[in-house]
Amino acid sequence: MTTVYAQGNVNYGVIGAGLQGEKHVEVASLAPNATLIGICDANEERARVLALKHGAKHICADYQELLALDEVEAVSVALPDHLHRDVTVAALEAGKHVLLEKPMATSVEDAEAIVAAQRASGRKLMVNWSNRWMIPFAQTKQKLDAGALGDPLYCYARLNNTTYVPTKMLSWAANTRLPYWLICHRYDIARWYFGCEAKKITAVSRSVVLKEMGIDTPDFYQVTVEFEGGQVGNFESCWILPESLPYLVDSKFQLVCTKGYVNVDPNPQVHQLATEERYSLEGFLAANVMGQPVGFVRQAIEHFINCCVTGAEPLITGEDGLQITRALVAMVEAAESGEAVYL
Ligand SMILES: NC(=O)c1ccc[n+]([C@@H]2O[C@H](COP(=O)([O-])OP(=O)(O)OC[C@H]3O[C@@H](n4cnc5c(N)ncnc54)[C@H](O)[C@@H]3O)[C@@H](O)[C@H]2O)c1
Repeated sequence: MTTVYAQGNVNYGVIGAGLQGEKHVEVASLAPNATLIGICDANEERARVLALKHGAKHICADYQELLALDEVEAVSVALPDHLHRDVTVAALEAGKHVLLEKPMATSVEDAEAIVAAQRASGRKLMVNWSNRWMIPFAQTKQKLDAGALGDPLYCYARLNNTTYVPTKMLSWAANTRLPYWLICHRYDIARWYFGCEAKKITAVSRSVVLKEMGIDTPDFYQVTVEFEGGQVGNFESCWILPESLPYLVDSKFQLVCTKGYVNVDPNPQVHQLATEERYSLEGFLAANVMGQPVGFVRQAIEHFINCCVTGAEPLITGEDGLQITRALVAMVEAAESGEAVYL
């Protein structure tokens, strides 16, 4: 898939220049219909390094400074999961369009405040559930819409990480939960396919491995969601797989429909890479090719940029974000209480 760029230009800023924020910086600097103006990160040195590499003229450590720049029309917010609300609300109030990294928020109150700010501002808001731009998931949606699979009945979705993610990659793992970090990607896909909201959620989580390491967040979640239309989704996720695995993400997705079946199983992949140091299985869904990012991450961000330029509604709206947040919060509550949560 490649992006068709709408004609025009949007002046762009990125708030939060960590692992994911760097991707937003890179895509905004490459898109022919965006101009990268500024980068903000609490670690100003990090912002400086990325600005030198990708050509932004403003850097700052305080997001209010970036939002005060009249020329900036749109921003990406790529802060840790639990810090999305204040910055996103402030950006919308400052009249900027916002591409907010997933999850929208880690509480329903935060998500409601963000949606209220978006409605009051009339600006664009998209939550970056970028997996919708992965080829297998996008193709399945097309087949469903064309009636080729009949009606979806249930799905099974697994999305796991190795311990590298909560122990070395993220400094803030204890401030989030797997429904916000991983399950939300597959829940968004299931809800997109089923076309309705969750009705009843049961969930189980356990804390053993990460607790022993002093990281206060559950090791895994097993979640069952019954949707309003009768469909069922089973979602499981852990982040305690051994780091000796040759990949960081373990995933599987199955969709059973009245007239069809879809199985997306990227592990193990067949692009093997062995150096003297390590053996790995490389991903096919997104990569850097000839010095440029290709794949779903770039396409999701470019979709938002196109929406800013044309005025079109993004594929994933603030209302989607709020509905998904309600379900994710219910997953955490159901696991903590041991009781079913009815939405
Ligand atoms: N869409 C996806 O597929 C995807 C993939 C990975 C991460 N994410 C999401 O992106 C967000 C960021 O994740 P990450 O992996 O880049 O985390 P990270 O820890 O690598 O980066 C976060 C950055 O935010 C900065 N920061 C923290 N507080 C700040 C503040 N008040 N003002 C300015 N900067 C501040 C930190 O210095 C850090 O550089 C998370 O919400 C995460 O869930 C989405």
